[in-house]
Formats: sequence, C-alpha cells, structure tokens
Amino acid sequence: MTTPFPFETIPTKEFFYGRENELKDLKSHIQNYTNVLLFSKRRMGKSTLIKNLLKEIEDNHIVIYIDICNIITAEDFARLLIKGIIASEKGDILASIKKLTSSFKKISVEPTFDSKTEEMGIKAITYNLSFNELIEDSFAALFKLTKEKKVVLAIDDIQQISNMKDINIAAVLRKYIQESNNISYIFIGSKGNALNSMFTNNAQLYSIASQMPLKALKIKDIYNYAKEYLNVSKELIEYIYELCKGETKLIHMVLHRIYIDKDNSNTIDSELVDAVIDEVLVSKNDFYKTLFQVLSINQKKAFRLLAKYGKELFSEKILKEENISRSSMQSSLKQLFAKEYIDKENGNYLIPDPAFELWAKKYL
Ligand SMILES: Nc1ncnc2c1ncn2[C@@H]1O[C@H](COP(=O)(O)OP(=O)(O)OP(=O)(O)O)[C@@H](O)[C@H]1O
Ligand SMILES: [Mg+2]
Repeated sequence: MTTPFPFETIPTKEFFYGRENELKDLKSHIQNYTNVLLFSKRRMGKSTLIKNLLKEIEDNHIVIYIDICNIITAEDFARLLIKGIIASEKGDILASIKKLTSSFKKISVEPTFDSKTEEMGIKAITYNLSFNELIEDSFAALFKLTKEKKVVLAIDDIQQISNMKDINIAAVLRKYIQESNNISYIFIGSKGNALNSMFTNNAQLYSIASQMPLKALKIKDIYNYAKEYLNVSKELIEYIYELCKGETKLIHMVLHRIYIDKDNSNTIDSELVDAVIDEVLVSKNDFYKTLFQVLSINQKKAFRLLAKYGKELFSEKILKEENISRSSMQSSLKQLFAKEYIDKENGNYLIPDPAFELWAKKYL
C-alpha cells in the first residue's frame, strides 16, 4: 500500500522529506572526494537518505550501493561488491558483458534470463576464487569505471565488517581507498556496540572518512510534511516525537496508522495517538516477548527497572523493588549491553529501541 508515511520501504522522492541540509553536505563531500561515515541510531533514516542521494546524482555519476547486513564471510562482502559493480552497468547487456569481461581478470560474467519478467541480466562466476582475488578484480574494475565518470560507492551496515574474524576487511579497503582517484566512499553504520568497537578496532578505516552523524528529523519538518496529509497540530507532532524518541520509523508507523484511520473522522488528539501506539505494541508483542523470554532472571529484572525508571538504577529503593543486589544489577546491565538490548550514552544506560521501551513499560 502506498502511504505518505513509509516505515518499511524506502520512500521515493515524493514521500522523502526533511534532509535538504544532509543532501547538500553529502553532495559537497562527493564533489570534494572526501569519504564519509554516516552514522546514527537504528531506524533514523540513513539508508533512505543515501538511496535518495544516489538517485539524485545517478545521471552524472556511476553509483554503487551495497548493503552488507547479511554477510557471513569476507567472500560474501567481495561478491556483493561485484554484484554492485555489475548492477551499476546500465544499457545494452551485451556491451556491458564485453566491458565487464575486459575489466575483470579472473571473474567471468555471463548473461541471465528471467523467464518471469522476461528480462536479461548479468551474473558473475566467482567459484574457486579467494577473497583477495575477488577484491583485487573488483577494484581493478572500479578503477576502470572511474575513467568514464566519477564513482560513488556506498556500503550500508558497514559495522558488519568488524564481525569478520579471519580477514581484516577494513585494512584491505583502506589500502584500495588510498589508491582511489575519482571514487567517493560513503560508509553507513548504525550506532551500537559493533559500530563503537569499529571506531576503535578499525580506526584505520575511520580515519580516512569524515564522520557525519545523522540526527533525527526535525519536529518542524515532520509537522510541515504531516499537515499536508493529516489535520494535526504541532503540539501533537511533538507528543508523538517524544513518545517515539525521534525515531523516524516509529513516528511514521504511528502517522501511517492515524492516516489510514482518518476516514473514521476521529479527532486526532493524544488519546488517539496513545491508542495507535498500543496497536503498534500489540503488533510487536510476539517479537518483544521472545526477546525478553530468553533473558536470565536478573537480566529481566534489570531490563524492567531500566524501562521503568531510566536512571538511578543503583539506588537502594529501586534495587529493593526487584530484590536484586547491586553487583547483580551491574553485571546484568553489562550483559544486556553486550547483547545489544541496551545502549550507553554519556555513561547512562538506555533502551535504544523506543518501541521496546514502551512495550516494557506497558507489559512488564
Ligand atoms: N527522510 C525521510 N523521509 C521519509 N521517510 C523516511 C525518511 N527517513 C526514513 N524514513 C522512513 O523510515 C524508515 C527507516 O529508515 P531507514 O531504514 O532509512 O533507517 P536506517 O537509519 O537506515 O535504519 P537501520 O539502522 O535499521 O539500517 C524507512 O523505511 C523510511 O520508510
Ligand atoms: Mg539502514
């Protein structure tokens, strides 16, 4: 269903808003060949921003976007890069195959045909090639592409590379990046333990990219956009924003539900918002229940207290409420942090998923 408030799909230009300054900054980084690390908390709109940016510049650049969220091995990373290079080829298939064949030394490519869509495509044959061979070939092809047009390579969910134990992808990338002329790299990462450790463990990669934190959409922009579709007040948008802690996805889930409900001529007030949030929590109940059930008793206690109070978790009164000792509280919070259930900001623990926090407040 098309909705002016997308929350699961990447919005097209029509439904994309509030990122003018970020687009301007990113374009100027690309102009100046500075690499960028774009990062934020989860679900704020990084992928959306980058995909819309790439769409805007694709006529004058060769744009390559790869999302590495599901990679298991370093070879997976290389294969995705190759896929991205192939996908950036537009136009005549046979001409592209010829060009790719001459760019790759070891990788071969062949045409594919999808009988359902009746469309032709190109696939790479990469069996028996090592990570080094794959990556060497990829960068040789990328460097060749730069002779045609400036290349922009965006790697989404970059924190995944820190999970590869056998091969240090960051070090390999760094080497090639330093040789790259005419390529702008955009790394996209979600803030969490993995990204935090990546800043330290893979400092070599991050020292060659300027860091660009992506903030939440501005309340004013959400309001100006939402009022085109809904009869809402600025105060109500503020109310939603506070409940959702500024998370774009959750804000849109709420606005979407209000939008599809609006024919029932309900007045849009905070009671309706509360009811809609409750619906969202019901829809996520199974998921959060499963997440919660696997925790140990002390972890459950610590999580429940964090959701309820947010601070002063070591005060006598709060510890007593769950009958948990100071040291158990300490170790449980540490374990929850390691499992990425909770995060740390300015030395304070918090639940980074606002819906999970609301769920915990309501159901625990
Ligand atoms: N500027 C925007 N305009 C309209 N919708 C947006 C915007 N930014 C994000 N969204 C919506 O919010 C959802 C979440 O955004 P997105 O997936 O881009 O976030 P992310 O930061 O990449 O998340 P993750 O950390 O999970 O990768 C998107 O599916 C999209 O529908
Ligand atoms: Mg994303």
